[in-house]
Amino acid sequence: MSRLATLAVHAGREDLAGLGVHVPPIDLSTTNPVPSVASGGAAYEALATGGLPPAEGGLVYQRLWNPTVARFEDALASLEMAEQAVAFGSGMAALTACLIATVGEGKPHVVAVRPIYGGSDHLLATGLLGTEVTWVEPDGIAAALRPDTGLVLVETPANPTLELLDLNAVCEAAGDVPVIVDNTFATPVLQWPIEHGATLVLHSATKYLGGHGDVIGGVVATSADWAAKLRRVRAVTGGLMHPLAAYLLHRGLQTLPVRVNAQQATAVELAGWLGEQQHVERVYFPSGALVGRQMAGPGAMVAFSVAGGYDSAARLVEAVQLITHAVSLGGVDSLIQHPASLTHRPVEAHAKPDAAVVRMSVGLEHLEDLRDDLAYAIKEAHR
Ligand SMILES: Cc1ncc(COP(=O)(O)O)c(C=O)c1O
Repeated sequence: MSRLATLAVHAGREDLAGLGVHVPPIDLSTTNPVPSVASGGAAYEALATGGLPPAEGGLVYQRLWNPTVARFEDALASLEMAEQAVAFGSGMAALTACLIATVGEGKPHVVAVRPIYGGSDHLLATGLLGTEVTWVEPDGIAAALRPDTGLVLVETPANPTLELLDLNAVCEAAGDVPVIVDNTFATPVLQWPIEHGATLVLHSATKYLGGHGDVIGGVVATSADWAAKLRRVRAVTGGLMHPLAAYLLHRGLQTLPVRVNAQQATAVELAGWLGEQQHVERVYFPSGALVGRQMAGPGAMVAFSVAGGYDSAARLVEAVQLITHAVSLGGVDSLIQHPASLTHRPVEAHAKPDAAVVRMSVGLEHLEDLRDDLAYAIKEAHR
């Protein structure tokens, strides 16, 4: 853990002392002077096809390369124990790039295990990018693979009800097909999918990585080969991360272990307390052998269902006073929302979360204040 905490603070900053600065410079240049037509052209060629910046020729254009974004990518790659990382304008732009890359290789078939974030579910279910999805139970992955399967996609813990998947088993079942794991809920503080055989680790950086609800971004940690494919897609399609966002995300990484561990400690207490409350029918919180073996802890997301179905759940999320009724998650302040109506609204009816379920992102507030707010909201919901 101390290694991770140290990496979180220092990764992507190794050259700063040599530059005579203490925090990363922010490079906002949209374009860069080209030293000569020949070297600039060669640099353009290298960067637009997913390569790294050559020694000469400049960085050409921000859509191809940006040093501030590259620092955040380096830092995130270190935390995920990946060779490289590629950052995008949002988590959905990151997933889009992965899907476009696989379609571009003539492998449009995706095998996926539900539940996943409603937006990702929607993107796959609509086939908007030319993909075709087969939804399976975890033990159905191997049987669903086809010669044109380009990706196996899973989320663990899953949004919104925090089901866990055994990543060793998923990667074994996938065989040679690359596995993409959405690690947004676990973060690299609690889980390292690459250690279990995953090829691509996806984050909505908007959530825990930023941690303060003020920046949207996405990032994929992966092999050097896949990173080159994703940079090419990013260069061509323009789903890039802004350098100011990258600066904030890089800064957010420094406190990621502290935040996740503190938020998790409160979530553990709240999950236990919720389980004892009258009107709370079920608490969804990671447990079992995978917590400890695959995840260093259960994380800081809690879902629960209340007696009275949709009406009670709706009243509950509207009654909170301290906690904010809002989508998103992973910030320092607690949020609560009704997945069936909001984050998972576009999911096909038969796969939608139970209408009695609410999902809470536990922040850094004092446990007793959160408990009091939830107790009040649960009471109001059942008045
Ligand atoms: C697990 C998960 N993956 C991906 C996304 C999409 O990320 P973004 O909103 O940054 O596009 C979200 C957003 O809520 C999410 O919760």
